[in-house]
Amino acid sequence: MSVTSSGSATYSEAVEGSNAKRGLWSSRLAFILAATGSAVGLGNIWKFPYITGENGGGAFVIMYLACIAVVGIPIMMAEVMIGRRGGRSPVNSLRLIAERDKLHPAWKLVGAVGVLAGFLILSFYSVIGGWAVSYVGTAASGQLAGQSADAIGAIFSGLLSDPLTLLLWHTVFMALVMVVVARGVRSGLERAVSILMPGLFILLLIVVGYAMTSGSFGKAVTFLFQPDFSKLTTSGVLVALGHAFFTLSLGMAVMMAYGSYLPKNISIAKTSITVSIIDTGVALLAGLAIFPIVFANGLEPGAGPGLIFQTLPLAFGQMPMGSFFGTLFFVLLIFAAWTSGISLLEPIVEWLEEQKGLNRTVSTLGAGVVCWALGIASILSLNLWSDVAPLSFIPMLEGKTIFDLLDFFTANILLPLGGLLVALFAGWVMSKQAMENELSLSASAFSLWFVTLRFITPVAVAVVFIYNLI
Ligand code: TRP
Repeated sequence: MSVTSSGSATYSEAVEGSNAKRGLWSSRLAFILAATGSAVGLGNIWKFPYITGENGGGAFVIMYLACIAVVGIPIMMAEVMIGRRGGRSPVNSLRLIAERDKLHPAWKLVGAVGVLAGFLILSFYSVIGGWAVSYVGTAASGQLAGQSADAIGAIFSGLLSDPLTLLLWHTVFMALVMVVVARGVRSGLERAVSILMPGLFILLLIVVGYAMTSGSFGKAVTFLFQPDFSKLTTSGVLVALGHAFFTLSLGMAVMMAYGSYLPKNISIAKTSITVSIIDTGVALLAGLAIFPIVFANGLEPGAGPGLIFQTLPLAFGQMPMGSFFGTLFFVLLIFAAWTSGISLLEPIVEWLEEQKGLNRTVSTLGAGVVCWALGIASILSLNLWSDVAPLSFIPMLEGKTIFDLLDFFTANILLPLGGLLVALFAGWVMSKQAMENELSLSASAFSLWFVTLRFITPVAVAVVFIYNLI
């Protein structure tokens, strides 16, 4: 992340230095870029369409939008606010606020939940990032041109059935993430985000434009936006809630870390809302790009994690200059996933530096390699271990592979739990005066936020949890 005083400050410098020495985001835009870089990723383009397809469309989308508004945005504001008030890395920010306001030191556990969640998420995130890396080559070599849906499907199942190829691309993706985190250089990345994100947006628009000509655009719009609540299950609601956290990078203190660099005079509410709107916009565009292709080709909306890899290549194979656009699209997808992957690894590395006194290179190598190794379990879940469902004795987890379980446990349990703790911390524990100062909202806007965070958010998360247990 770019900071005005040093340009490449790492979180550890941030912890050592006083607030004045660590430097701040150069501008509101810089914060928005970094936070958007973290938020917009595979969650928007890979995960949102496939879980929408699996959960029946419209009603799920409405649930997801409601979760963004009622749970996501208030918690993002709380995370950014806690980070800025503490002015340190998440674990230390929480400790500092706890000391200053004479609270129980156990609150720093929020940071610990985050470190664990980031570690588990990155292990499978990198495997999917690897799929994107692999598809750059597939698109660039012209293999997609004019292919039928069956042939495109065969290319994808060919990739999944080949553990060594998956391992190769997983390794490449993890290495990309580790190199940036090890060097602690964020200024180049910020520039990259400011060019590549709009690029990704434009490419999605091009695919949406193509999808409009497919003849099934209306059907896709109906599927995405016309709610049929009979199709929404209680577990679908949990998935929508979990995804609100996942897609906004909430629940593991990433936004807290970023918030600690935000200058005091910048509005937390406006920036959080901006980031959430961009993130949601990208997800909805991805849905509008993918579902027309699904329906036009008689594919299955609930096809699962492979959905975008079975539909987008089909569109690129048919549109003019498709190999070019396809290659560009997957390159941009890698960048989106890369900036998100960095924000998943960063808190772990920072924690190792602080708690274990390791230097940045050693911390990155240690955390990265263990995470990479765990990723192998996700790779094997796609082929050799595709029948291994270790927790099938729990009804809700029946038939879930290790890969599915990692995704489920992190997105649907750890992140909402982390978010719940943040909501309780801000809603019930932190000094109200301090929060009013940080947020500097009008009295009514502050009350709206405060009441939502104090009552609605925790109750919503708790109700969804309890319903799913029984
Ligand atoms: N938000 C990212 C995505 O949608 C994933 C991600 C990055 C994330 N950092 C995170 C999720 C921190 C939870 C917490 O792809």
